[in-house]
Amino acid sequence: MKFKLKEDLLLGTATAATQIEGGDQNNNWARFAAQGKIKDSTTPVRADDHYARFKEDIDLMAEMGLQIYRFGIEWSRIEPQRGMYSEEVISHYREEIEYMKSKGIMPLLTLHHFTNPLWFEDMGAFEHKESPEIFLSFVKKAITSFGDLVSEYITINEPNVYCVNSLFWGEWPPEKKSLASLVKAFSNMTAAHVLAYTYIHEARREMGYTDTKVSFANHLRIFEPENPKNPFHRLASSLTNYLFQGAITTAMMSGKCRFPVLRRKGVKKGKFYDFIGINYYSRSTVKGLADGVRDDCQKNDMGWEIYHEGLLELSERLYEKYQAPVYVTENGTCDNSDSFRPRFIYDQLKLICERENHIMRYYHWSFTDNFEWKEGESARFGIVHVDYETQKRTVKNSGKLYASIIENQGVTEESYETFVKNSQYHN
Ligand code: BGC
Repeated sequence: MKFKLKEDLLLGTATAATQIEGGDQNNNWARFAAQGKIKDSTTPVRADDHYARFKEDIDLMAEMGLQIYRFGIEWSRIEPQRGMYSEEVISHYREEIEYMKSKGIMPLLTLHHFTNPLWFEDMGAFEHKESPEIFLSFVKKAITSFGDLVSEYITINEPNVYCVNSLFWGEWPPEKKSLASLVKAFSNMTAAHVLAYTYIHEARREMGYTDTKVSFANHLRIFEPENPKNPFHRLASSLTNYLFQGAITTAMMSGKCRFPVLRRKGVKKGKFYDFIGINYYSRSTVKGLADGVRDDCQKNDMGWEIYHEGLLELSERLYEKYQAPVYVTENGTCDNSDSFRPRFIYDQLKLICERENHIMRYYHWSFTDNFEWKEGESARFGIVHVDYETQKRTVKNSGKLYASIIENQGVTEESYETFVKNSQYHN
């Protein structure tokens, strides 16, 4: 054995509704794509056609032995107009959840993953002062509809990435560059999470369940000064860390609001997580407001530094402060030819299994290649290849390795020879 899996570690994959489902025209990313804003001119209206093919995808997950699955539901399908819910769509998702459970795959359901229904987007989305309550209405419908089937929830995926990309850098819809908008959205998303967390617990308690677990998926990066001896780089690094992830983490986890997060009504101090959800991808090197990547490091196909240590560092940093099991709710890499992903998975899991830590779940991003937001179909993160023209799925070497790790509860010499040995990072 090259290494054995930690005994209590469960492995699976993560996806998001908009990135895989296809077919939905009623959300802000479908509209953004129709406006020609995606780099390769593709659209999430195509994606992986998973809405129609969910059985095929879940069958494949089951064949690969995946134990857990983080997936999303599309708000704009469930509530196509404000206050009007589609029972047909709800039945569809119930069928999907029942199907994955029948295959022994444990669901973790994401309620919001970047995408908004057009009606919500057009009223200002999370900038709107009633957005926490509007989101809560959707959450109520979701829990009434799926609460008997699902015990674990992510309220919101990566509030920091959503707010910063959409409202500060202006790269994602609605392409704003406004600090005031950023502050509003940070604050309202915090309130939305706190309201949802509290409601989901109450509602499922009333249904008689005691196994509810709720948190949010927190995008965390390592920020490091480009030159540690330069006081400006050091200052820029700690400031970026605080503004991008420090303040929002504290606010979402414990309701303690400090600029740039302002306290909204309904937000009291408390504990608003049952696990620590971390989405981890990379380390950033800082010398000013925008972050960069050092030259002398291994990078993925999107130019992000590959730095496995960072996940362990962050997970222990958060554990010390919040004392709850850590779920790696996303970790993965863009490798269009799957040439180094096997090694990436090997290195990351080896570290998790050999180092003291509190990680209990690892959801690899992603199952199938999918619609990668502004990059469209051109950036591949899947352990299963998708031919977008034919929608044919083919398990990649990284997928075969991942399946073998679950089957053997570790990496055997044979799997190493077959999948990892010749898999190398390129700079
Ligand atoms: C997001 C995913 C995205 C992934 C890779 C995360 O920030 O939650 O939706 O596909 O990173 O960029």
